[in-house]
Amino acid sequence: MSTSPTAPACRSCGGTLREFLDLGAQPMANAYVPPEQADEEAFSFRLAIGSCVDCAMVQLIDEVPHDRMFHDAYPYRSSGSTVMQSHFEQLASRFLAGELTGADPFLVELGSNDGIMLRKIAEAGVRHLGVEPCGDVAGAGEAGGIRVCSEFFEEKLAARIRAEDGPADVIFAANTFSHISFIDSVFRGIDELLAPEGVFVFEDPYFGDLVAKTSFDQIYDEHIFFFTVSSVRAMARRYGFELVDVERLPVHGGEIRCTLARPGTRPVSPAVTGLLAEEEAAGLTSPEVLAGFAAGVDRVCRELVTVLEEAKAQGLTVAGYGATAKSATLLNRCGIGPGLLPYVCDSTPAKQGRLTPGTGIPIRTPEAFRADPPDLALLLAWNHAEEIKRKESGFTAGGGRWIEYVPRVRIQGT
Ligand code: SAH
Ligand code: TMP
Ligand code: ZN
Repeated sequence: MSTSPTAPACRSCGGTLREFLDLGAQPMANAYVPPEQADEEAFSFRLAIGSCVDCAMVQLIDEVPHDRMFHDAYPYRSSGSTVMQSHFEQLASRFLAGELTGADPFLVELGSNDGIMLRKIAEAGVRHLGVEPCGDVAGAGEAGGIRVCSEFFEEKLAARIRAEDGPADVIFAANTFSHISFIDSVFRGIDELLAPEGVFVFEDPYFGDLVAKTSFDQIYDEHIFFFTVSSVRAMARRYGFELVDVERLPVHGGEIRCTLARPGTRPVSPAVTGLLAEEEAAGLTSPEVLAGFAAGVDRVCRELVTVLEEAKAQGLTVAGYGATAKSATLLNRCGIGPGLLPYVCDSTPAKQGRLTPGTGIPIRTPEAFRADPPDLALLLAWNHAEEIKRKESGFTAGGGRWIEYVPRVRIQGT
């Protein structure tokens, strides 16, 4: 089955989208297939991305309905990375020492997943609410002591939260706001729920990092938007907010954390103007840069397939490390299946024993990887490189070598 709805208008300003990259028919990135369904035709859609000619917002052309992607069996668990745990603990401490120091403060998090950020807020006894539509993952958060509402955040829910809990001092969303296509409703909800002096803070992959690293595997069904400071500022204004601060983050391959407030309530940080000037100088969303990005994607795919084919011809064994959502885009775009990559290991129980979407590669445990290490390991979870290389130091000590493809294809030691 495939979907090919007509190209939508810009989801931020209604303008015209100009497509610059078509990654072909792709499955839903987090739809890991049980082996008994291996032969069934998978749902696929055209994964293509464009930029708005009016506001330069980079976004998917077609989209998968949100309740098909986010449901009770959604497998992603944020707390699988210790680096991300400490990232969110630090942010929670910052909120606790800053925005949440008034009388009886209240924080709402969209996409709270397994409670990775809210745990610390809950431990501090601060009023909070996680909004997490996926039932199982919401349950994991509740089991950890946080308060969760298992629904999609939109205008009506925001009004209900406001009526029951009062205004929020902070609305926070990590790796979630860019996943939501219906931003009109979300912004109306934020307007309803946010206290007059409150802030809406969100962090998501930065398009500048995608271009700098050719990290096109960040493009998959769940990632509707790829923000730039310029497009976020325009979006904020359109919905009656102001972009008052922006921070670059090293996590997940490079992100930006944006702070929005009601106009005039906060000074605008020099970081905003600084990054705007950088984007302008780089021509970040110019047709030339976007065409260069698309050419880089072809190069990475060609080189990676060559490396894997040569390894196979030399009789070297290879495995993938990390059954990431990102890797669905890479593997499907390159046509890499079990013939070139016999298995992928991943620490997430809900992914183990299943097959990678669209490419049918078995997913095993990291223990299986350690018990019989391959000669080469393709680092699919490249955004967790440091953590994984540390954890798997035995692999390289035993002569194993990593294959990386971000920012370029490279076999360790070559
Ligand atoms: N914040 C976590 C989880 C990111 S995964 C982290 O940074 O690791 C994205 C999460 O957003 C998923 O758990 C998904 O269920 C949730 N989500 C998707 N659409 C949403 C919506 N409309 N409202 C709230 N959460 C949503
Ligand atoms: P992410 O890039 O979307 O965060 O997904 C990372 C995937 O990699 C996730 O499925 C968990 C897996 N993983 C491991 O298998 N071992 C690890 O040490 C880490 C950090 C992640
Ligand atoms: Zn636009």
